[in-house]
Amino acid sequence: MTLKSWVNIDGVITPGEAARVSVFDRGFLFGDAVYEVLRTVDQAPLFWEAHRARLWRSARALCIPLDALDPSHLYAQMQATLAQADWGESSIRVIITRGEGEPAWGAGGFGQARWIIIVEPLRRPDPALYAQGCVLKTFGVARGDRGGLDPRIKSSNKLVAVMAIADAQAAGAHEALRVDPLGRILEGATSTFFLVRGGVLLTPPIAVGILEGITRAKVIELAQRLGVPFEEVELHIDDLPSADEAFICSSIRGVLPVRQIDQYVFSAPGPICRVILEGYERSLRGALSPSLG
Ligand SMILES: Cc1ncc(COP(=O)(O)O)c(C=O)c1O
Repeated sequence: MTLKSWVNIDGVITPGEAARVSVFDRGFLFGDAVYEVLRTVDQAPLFWEAHRARLWRSARALCIPLDALDPSHLYAQMQATLAQADWGESSIRVIITRGEGEPAWGAGGFGQARWIIIVEPLRRPDPALYAQGCVLKTFGVARGDRGGLDPRIKSSNKLVAVMAIADAQAAGAHEALRVDPLGRILEGATSTFFLVRGGVLLTPPIAVGILEGITRAKVIELAQRLGVPFEEVELHIDDLPSADEAFICSSIRGVLPVRQIDQYVFSAPGPICRVILEGYERSLRGALSPSLG
């Protein structure tokens, strides 16, 4: 349990340790929920509109009705929760569950979806990892590794990620890199993945079965703006020995260089990763403008 946190459940803000949801909440019973995690910059939510849009897409894909939830009300509630934070930057987790019901499987007959906002101090990886790179361990998964659900849905059912991260950490790695049975590289347990080979930035397409990462999209936009050659292409585990650089991305980490994946070692941060990392960090300063927000 995080000691420092504030939680807003359907409009009631409490310190994290006092926050409670019913055991009959479908999120608890079945992982029947969707979520987003974002960070603040200068205490303001970063890329909220992109996160909001994905949250609504995920809910729609799971037929969680959000008709009664006004996005601007949710945003105002997020601001009210953030106003309680007496620390610097925050991470914000927004969860929408199908709500409360009998512990029966049917997804119909529920009242209102429930929303929960959790605000905690932002915990980014150790700065040394940005300077020296992190370590990934590959983790084999079936292609539809979320029980056949579309991987673009950011659902609260995270068991594969939990197991993959446990496997990586047991081996001393920082993050798991999910690989399908054909040896295709998908994404990290909670991150998207980029390689550099021969001066070209490469990342797997969404269609391989990955989340539409918001940081991934920003990195692609940045690469195009900076003139870094870029291609969306299926990557295979056999591409690792010839790769020059690698990095992972997520809303909390930003761009994090990778120095090792299993037995393969890379320069970290390599020259292209460095350009993207610095460009991304710089862009955050101006990111609260509507064009990037
Ligand atoms: C499976 C998966 N892929 C990628 C990401 C990174 O996505 P984003 O950049 O939108 O935070 C996450 C973040 O939680 C994730 O869970």
